[in-house]
Amino acid sequence: MRILITGGTGFVGSHTVVSLVGAGYQPVIVDDLSNSNKSVLAALQKIINQKIAFYKLNYGDQTKLETILKKESIEGIIHFAAFKSLGESIREPLKYYKNNVANMVGLLETAEKLGLPLIFSSSAAVYGAPQKLPITEEASLPNPTRPYQATKLMGEQMLRDVTNASKHLKSISLRYFNPIGAHSSGLIGENPKNKPDNLVPSVMLAAKSQTSLSVFGGDYPTPDGTCIRDFIHVMDVAEAHVKAFEHLKVQGPGYYDVFNIGTGRGHSVLEVINEFEKVTGQKLTYKIGDRRRGDLPEVYASADKAQRILGWESKLSLADGLSDAWNWPKKHTP
Ligand SMILES: NC(=O)c1ccc[n+]([C@@H]2O[C@H](COP(=O)([O-])OP(=O)(O)OC[C@H]3O[C@@H](n4cnc5c(N)ncnc54)[C@H](O)[C@@H]3O)[C@@H](O)[C@H]2O)c1
Repeated sequence: MRILITGGTGFVGSHTVVSLVGAGYQPVIVDDLSNSNKSVLAALQKIINQKIAFYKLNYGDQTKLETILKKESIEGIIHFAAFKSLGESIREPLKYYKNNVANMVGLLETAEKLGLPLIFSSSAAVYGAPQKLPITEEASLPNPTRPYQATKLMGEQMLRDVTNASKHLKSISLRYFNPIGAHSSGLIGENPKNKPDNLVPSVMLAAKSQTSLSVFGGDYPTPDGTCIRDFIHVMDVAEAHVKAFEHLKVQGPGYYDVFNIGTGRGHSVLEVINEFEKVTGQKLTYKIGDRRRGDLPEVYASADKAQRILGWESKLSLADGLSDAWNWPKKHTP
């Protein structure tokens, strides 16, 4: 089955390409390289030992995208391409609404027209501050307070509504919690073009450049005072897409559902730092500073629904995620 991967040279997309090939799918990548590098393609081809079709294109170019979909005989889409920085989305909201929402309207129009099943990368960000932990898919979704969060929620709502009204479309939204790590080869990993604002890439940067890591807040109502998140290995996230596609294949038109993709466990920032030092033997210097506006004390998933319906669960540990994450900058010289 030939699957179009928008954002396939990015962090989660590139790892998903590896899993898809392993499961017998043939991915075709569309990426404009706005937050990734062409070198990812060569690394991917080395890992999977075969060529991959790649198009450097803004997925919002509907005419060109439709031509590619037809030319490549595409039978399904996994839609990763988006901007993902919470902080940047506050400073440049229109950049986010344009790429994550306006461009997605065109993608959905084309997917509906051609009747292509679609998986959408959503985020735990849609939950906002949880009323109850672990967070289940039934949790109410509050009004978004930040543009990135709003774009992911709008993406889900558009997908649900278009699918419900369609005679052709079937689709799934996957709400990722905090993907970390890298492929065990160390050939691909998380390589943001701008300064990262999530924890694990910041830990890697601090360790590699021997600089001090900023910990945002040490006075949260958690056992050690730092924030708690559900860190999930990116290869587990990648596998979830394979399972989701298998599930989607046997559903009828109009099917739509949403699944949490997390481990079901939370780890604090200090636990991550300690575990990183333990598994890599690297010493990290860090400073606990002020809280960052908008950060929530504790967020972790219930992963029961994905296990029950998709037959998927996370297999890799926080230690695996951190040692694989470190393997990547250690080997990689940009
Ligand atoms: N990484 C996370 O922590 C996380 C958590 C929850 C949800 N998500 C979602 O998962 C998806 C993938 O995230 P990621 O971490 O791999 O991000 P990433 O930035 O590494 O990958 C996104 C890729 O999409 C490409 N892209 C962006 N806009 C494009 C456009 N208009 N046309 C073509 N290509 C475009 C970028 O060049 C990049 O290669 C995103 O939709 C993100 O919102 C990520």
